[in-house]
Amino acid sequence: MPFSISDFSSLFSPLVLAPMAEMSDPPLRRLLSRLGGCGLHYTAMITPPASRALRDHRFCLDTRHPLSPPLVCQIAPSRSDEVPNMIDNVLSFCRPFALDINMGCPVWWMRRLGAGAGLLSEPSRAFSVVESARKTWKGPLFVKIRAGTTAIDISWLLDFCQGLVDSGADVITLHGRTVEERLRREARWDLVLAVREALLVPVIGNGDVRSADQAIRRLQETGAGGIMIGRGVLMDPFVFSRASASLQGRPFKEPTYEDEVSIRLELIDDIAATYEPGRAACRIRKLLPYLLCRFPFARRCALEIGRLKTPAAQRVALHGFLEKFSGQATQVLG
Ligand SMILES: Cc1cc2nc3c(=O)[nH]c(=O)nc-3n(C[C@H](O)[C@H](O)[C@H](O)COP(=O)(O)O)c2cc1C
Repeated sequence: MPFSISDFSSLFSPLVLAPMAEMSDPPLRRLLSRLGGCGLHYTAMITPPASRALRDHRFCLDTRHPLSPPLVCQIAPSRSDEVPNMIDNVLSFCRPFALDINMGCPVWWMRRLGAGAGLLSEPSRAFSVVESARKTWKGPLFVKIRAGTTAIDISWLLDFCQGLVDSGADVITLHGRTVEERLRREARWDLVLAVREALLVPVIGNGDVRSADQAIRRLQETGAGGIMIGRGVLMDPFVFSRASASLQGRPFKEPTYEDEVSIRLELIDDIAATYEPGRAACRIRKLLPYLLCRFPFARRCALEIGRLKTPAAQRVALHGFLEKFSGQATQVLG
């Protein structure tokens, strides 16, 4: 049963948390569930090796929050014959609302496996992966792509997207950059508009949305079914709740400096409680440059905390920085 635009807009909100390896995991999803405003949560990608060892990786599927929005579980297969097993493995640990196939990851080892962006350069293999997923999975099937491999060719892009839909995709998410661009240059939202106009299925746009106003503007300009935000929500975790209030015409109570501090500490504490100390410290280290980027001490703090080996020591140091700068509250969070 295809997934229609009306199903999509009946979701809680058209705002979507992007899949982000080591970031869009249960602690972040729990925090965002509590803050509200997000219509769909993505897991980070599950690669073929991770799916075989899913017992060790099942933490990424878990959320356990009563206000969690529907979950989209992202898999990153390279061939059609590995898709049924990957889906079976995922379904033995959770019942996501939708599955997504990653066709945009630019990381070299993924591409060498033929997964992620490796599928973009071989459309027939990409379509057979979608067909295989369609046969195995009866729920909504999403595909997340980039706009091309090295250059933008709009007619290629539209044909590729139509091929994905003909193969069984219900929703296309477009990150408006080429694989080669990685996260450089500005994401092209004119491409989101072009794909949205050409396809009969919902299109989610992605790339460089950093604020609630920008999310709403992108939604209005493109008529996209959804706006996906990744780094923007790590930098400002209130972006979904603020945008959602604005979309619904509700007032939004702006967080105080104390609110901003306490949600960051809450996230750090949940990461420390979820993973063993080494893994938690590593995640906190990667997250901090985003989480603190709106604070004047971000660089110094991230560097200093980067040297610390345990989440407990990281938390004490972070708390110290946040306390020390609380006097600058109004300049800090602009
Ligand atoms: C740390 C990090 C990890 C990412 N991991 C994934 C992933 O697992 N799967 C995926 O499809 N995209 C992944 N992405 C790409 C994001 O989903 C998104 O397309 C990209 O960051 C652009 O959106 P943004 O400007 O809102 O961050 C990742 C991006 C970052 C920064």
